[in-house]
Amino acid sequence: MKGIRQWRRLRTGPLFAGKELGFVPTMGALHEGHLSLLRRARRENRLVAASVFVNPTQFNDKSDLARYPRPVAEDVKKLAEAGTDFLLLPAAAEMYPDGYTYKVTESEASAGLCGAHRPGHFDGVLTVVLKLLNLVKADRAYFGEKDFQQFRLIKGMAAAFFLDTEIVPCPTLREPDGLAMSSRNLLLEPAHRDLAPALYRHLRSKARPADIKRRLRALGFEPDYVEERWGRRFAAAKLGKVRLIDNVKA
Ligand code: PAJ
Repeated sequence: MKGIRQWRRLRTGPLFAGKELGFVPTMGALHEGHLSLLRRARRENRLVAASVFVNPTQFNDKSDLARYPRPVAEDVKKLAEAGTDFLLLPAAAEMYPDGYTYKVTESEASAGLCGAHRPGHFDGVLTVVLKLLNLVKADRAYFGEKDFQQFRLIKGMAAAFFLDTEIVPCPTLREPDGLAMSSRNLLLEPAHRDLAPALYRHLRSKARPADIKRRLRALGFEPDYVEERWGRRFAAAKLGKVRLIDNVKA
């Protein structure tokens, strides 16, 4: 486990010479979706680093941040089992020595979908990912297609700022009933957990986005959007206090 100063000293030392490094950034509460990224990084690189950091700047809803699960001891165990060589576990003050006065803003791919419903969210994501990529200096970094808009934005940022890390997309892992794995699933009430797979089921149907939205509302979801973009179909909807997102190829 490394703080930022320790990590930077280590990273410039001989340990990494000539060895490819894969990186998986996370906010913890790790599930099989995260672990699939780590296993892929393990297969494709000599060394693997992960970060666990519940990034406050990407939470537009303060109560969502307060509720976000933080099972750190379990996460450390899962990371070790998945063959992670290095874990970066920074404190918020360490990550934001500037107090978040500097930020990365994107103005096209971030408009619409989650960007339209979560003000400031992608500024927070892009800023923290830029910081993490600069610190870790990995050859490859792995991101899930579950958060497809996030992946697109990070890939675009890496190209726009000439970052040396290759941004690798990884498929969405699902529960047996089709629900996309997510750390927030832990927060669903039992009745909502039973209902949750309907999001994926309807997203995959041939119905028009507006009809899917109506059907989801009738079931008890509060949909933010059902929309097509980039040859994919995206949805975000709340069940109680928990906001779920998913996307499929259109
Ligand atoms: P988090 O939600 O913890 O997700 C970490 C990584 O795991 C992301 O790349 C996400 O897309 C991927 N992931 C989550 N659920 C997945 C699933 N069911 N199948 C495959 N991959 C999945 O995304 C974030 O954290 C943060 O925004 C972060 C990029 C770490 C910046 O703070």
